[in-house]
Amino acid sequence: MFKTRITEMFGIEYPIIQGAMLWLSRAELVAAVSNAGGLGIIAALTFPTAKELREEIKKTKSLTNKPFAVNITMLPTMRAVNYEEYIDAAIDEGVNIIETAGRSPELYMKQLKDGGVKVIHKVARVKDAKTAERLGVDAVTIVGFESAGHPGMDEVTSLVLIPIAVDAVKIPVITGGGIGDGRGFVAALALGAEGVLMGTRFMATRECPIHPKIGQWLLQAKETDTLIIERSIKNSARVMKTEFSQRVLELEETGATLEELLPFISGDRSKQSYISGDVNDGVIACGQAVGLIRDIPSIRELIGGIINEARLISQRLYKMGSPSAGG
Ligand SMILES: Cc1cc2nc3c(=O)[nH]c(=O)nc-3n(C[C@H](O)[C@H](O)[C@H](O)COP(=O)(O)O)c2cc1C
Repeated sequence: MFKTRITEMFGIEYPIIQGAMLWLSRAELVAAVSNAGGLGIIAALTFPTAKELREEIKKTKSLTNKPFAVNITMLPTMRAVNYEEYIDAAIDEGVNIIETAGRSPELYMKQLKDGGVKVIHKVARVKDAKTAERLGVDAVTIVGFESAGHPGMDEVTSLVLIPIAVDAVKIPVITGGGIGDGRGFVAALALGAEGVLMGTRFMATRECPIHPKIGQWLLQAKETDTLIIERSIKNSARVMKTEFSQRVLELEETGATLEELLPFISGDRSKQSYISGDVNDGVIACGQAVGLIRDIPSIRELIGGIINEARLISQRLYKMGSPSAGG
């Protein structure tokens, strides 16, 4: 059940993909997702050098013999990043699925294709999904406005975005943003997606290396406890609503430039939060699906639970739609 072009293409059991999460999606989390039948994704930029990424890939391979991917996020950073080196490291280490995000993968498509990898490109606009298809990516992930990280500037939610994206491209569409349980999973498939991507929900799992205090924050948070920052620099980001992120918004309102904002919004600040457990040490990406988090299960329990729930929902819907259902 739930076999799609995505499960076929990547050789995975369930069309459930763990969204790359800077600092968090390391070997343990990624291997746990892949071992549970999904696809784990390492966030390459967690590692300051390509050499360290290689070490993490080796570690992941020691923990799973299932497929996993590497994400290359290309967004403004405090340090100059040589993306080619990271891509080379992943290809050399035998990773055969690479996800690009943040900007068009055009510059790297030859390197990726020569390396024989399947490419997923993550976008927030249908227009960019079409461009990615034209560039030759194998699958596209489209994220709705609910999602953690960068949901784009157009503010279109998944319910509308998914069917439009599915109609616009021929390659398989994965979708992310707001999915946290079997209901969201089935809804995404019903809308035409062939895989789901979850970031926020995977944050609250036993294998995710978050500080227990951050775990507690996620458990008590409601669907209204996120906000969008970085609109002013045209790089909208959905993060936890905290005093710190509200201060960033205030800075934006005073007309702060990217250079002025970077020390507050940089990934290094969020790393500090993960270490201290203080959500006010930096901005932490978080999606509206946080409202669906009620426990901190193991990855296996989470994925198994989603699949079981999805099976029950599918049976119920099937019965509702069958001619003998009355009406
Ligand atoms: C803590 C956290 C860190 C993230 N870091 C990245 C990242 O480095 N690169 C990236 O492409 N997406 C990043 N994302 C976005 C996820 O990969 C995914 O697109 C998103 O979480 C999906 O929406 P959802 O949170 O509603 O499930 C991050 C998300 C979270 C929650």
